[in-house]
Amino acid sequence: MIHFDEKERLFRIDAKDVSYVFFAAANGRLRHLYWGPQLDTMDLRNLGIADYTCSPNFNPDDNEAGRGAYSWEFAGNDIGTRGVPTAIVRNADGNTTTDPRYVSHRIYAGKPRLEGLPATFVDSPEECETLEITMLDEATKVEFLLRYTAFRDLPIIARSVVVTNKGDAPVELQKIMSLTTDFRHQEFDVIYFDGYWGKERTYHRERVQGGLKIMGADSGYTSHRMNSSVILCDPTTTEEFGRAYGVLFVYSGKFAVEVDQCCMYRTRLNLGIHPMGFTWHLEPGESFQSPEALQAFSNEGLGALSRSWHDLIRQHIINPRWRTAPRPILCNNWEAMHFNFSREKLVTLAKTAKAHGIEMLVLDDGWFGKRDNDQTGLGDWYTNTTKVGCTMGELADEIRSLGLKFGLWFEPEMVSEDSDLYRAHPDWAIQVPNRSSKTFWRYQYMLDFSRKEVVDYVYEMIIKVIDEAKLDYMKWDANREMTEVGSYGWPAERQGEIAHRFMLGVYDLYQRLVNRYPNMLIEGCSSGGGRFDAGILYYSPQIWTSDNSDAFNRLAIQYGTSFAYPCSSMGAHVARNWFAERYSPVETRAAVAFSGTFGYELDLNQMPPEELAQVDGQVEFYHKYHHLVEQGDYYRLANPFKDETVSWMHVAKDKSEFLLTVVFTRWDASYSGENILLRGLDLDAKYTDGTKTWTGRVLTYAGISVKPSRFGDMLSIVIHGTRV
Ligand code: GLA
Repeated sequence: MIHFDEKERLFRIDAKDVSYVFFAAANGRLRHLYWGPQLDTMDLRNLGIADYTCSPNFNPDDNEAGRGAYSWEFAGNDIGTRGVPTAIVRNADGNTTTDPRYVSHRIYAGKPRLEGLPATFVDSPEECETLEITMLDEATKVEFLLRYTAFRDLPIIARSVVVTNKGDAPVELQKIMSLTTDFRHQEFDVIYFDGYWGKERTYHRERVQGGLKIMGADSGYTSHRMNSSVILCDPTTTEEFGRAYGVLFVYSGKFAVEVDQCCMYRTRLNLGIHPMGFTWHLEPGESFQSPEALQAFSNEGLGALSRSWHDLIRQHIINPRWRTAPRPILCNNWEAMHFNFSREKLVTLAKTAKAHGIEMLVLDDGWFGKRDNDQTGLGDWYTNTTKVGCTMGELADEIRSLGLKFGLWFEPEMVSEDSDLYRAHPDWAIQVPNRSSKTFWRYQYMLDFSRKEVVDYVYEMIIKVIDEAKLDYMKWDANREMTEVGSYGWPAERQGEIAHRFMLGVYDLYQRLVNRYPNMLIEGCSSGGGRFDAGILYYSPQIWTSDNSDAFNRLAIQYGTSFAYPCSSMGAHVARNWFAERYSPVETRAAVAFSGTFGYELDLNQMPPEELAQVDGQVEFYHKYHHLVEQGDYYRLANPFKDETVSWMHVAKDKSEFLLTVVFTRWDASYSGENILLRGLDLDAKYTDGTKTWTGRVLTYAGISVKPSRFGDMLSIVIHGTRV
């Protein structure tokens, strides 16, 4: 999979259907050549691709004058390689010139785990091959170890960098991108997903313009504001046709995707930890491991790119324990009760849930410390027995005796000012030492998870509750951004490390819990879907997609999320109608939630009887067909940002079954239905929905006629077809 031409010092990395090519120039700098459909040659330099330059004085043997137009695989800093750099190291002399050159490489089967960080993994070494390139900045003796892993079954390459100070004086790493790649002479569109609370991962597509555009988040977590998945594609690329280049970060802290286009249409794409506020002090002998960045290519449009990401996340990121295991249908009490619950209310809800086939009750916020509202109690992870009416063990036993599993909400990284924990350890909050102001956000601070003793303390508190209640499920929430970043636990020269060290603490706690409770399902959450990323998915196979459960808004949120993340990772629940002015029938709310992990987030006992009566059918439908959502291929058939009829499909990998969902968002007086062209089917097979039979060819090219069964907005139909 990974080829090396010794004479040309050229590397060709072949993942499934894709080649990625670069070489070490005579002076040792790494120059990028190609990323695209798989090639059958190593002879790229003779094709002239490598030697393009904007300088009329270009001489390939000189010191690369005019190299601003070269394509770089690793862009040094302050060495004439124009464009935003891959790495910046401030060396002992005080300058930031960074110029690593190729020293050696090795190629081996398999892939190492990244110490303390989430990363892709394989079940057996044959599934991938890894290239490690060692580069050294001779003047500063800083070494860069570049890792590339190519997956045999997916058009995806995983990358990371280890920076080691091999010199005898300390240096400061000021920027390290996990991935740099340059494109030559391409007009690009960039697709990114921004948003805010209740409107996560809003799809945007625009033409790349000259200059530097940074899509990222600098406040300590992935954030609602921008997701760490970005796509570059040809302006002509559609769902089904054209080239698309995607990147994805296996990380949950602050990140930046830099797209930098120069006037020669050389476009650079960088992905890594956001350099703003980041520094890492490296004493002689010390190393820094960057998080992992992934790059995927599709020659068949955005749909195929997404399906590659979905397969990667399901096969190589989420814990194999949950790879094929159906997730329990849960009922979460938050929107039913908020902080106003009692044992009796919970048991009544649980009984109704059980009567309709729901499998798990989740008690959300408010069960611990002095937590009667969102202003108090975070950090005090002991049961408020007065409020709960018994111990957590007793409540859990009672719920379980009804035949349900039981789960609890936590917000481990946070502390309320009004809490026993904060009163005892005010210095355990993230804050800038000796500066009195710190931003209050939902009445809480972030705990300083850069300090091991803080993580240890929270771990010990949490496991007492989990052990006592024998939890089947934990909802791990995180409801604020990181501001005034600093720590009393670290010296001055390490204050720039706190945001990343905090994430290492979060991952450490996650890993300890996963190790101790291999069968406890953890669902990530962050004020809805504010920390939806491939890093969290490594520990939590599902993440609450948004607090906004309005079915209409969810069409857009789940659409945007689907570009990188599989439906099996998207927490989606049937809720009450969110806005009085917008009614969605319960069957549509269920149809939309069905393309996620599925559950209920409302007071079942308050549901109109005709709606509650439908729950049994929804549960039955889930058990019959949810394997298609969890393991099938996903096809977006419409774009909710422009189409009034929104549809999508889940198709079994062997094409033997499909599920088509159509939501008619707006009623139109003269609407008489439409033909929807299906995707992903076996053209030569016949499919039936139990009443009609079509060939795959007809469904694909002529389409299936659909129309709502009555007048109204937000109506839907779901069609299940099987191969005859
Ligand atoms: C966040 C979550 C919600 C709920 C509340 C509880 O907003 O996104 O689902 O858990 O916190 O306070």
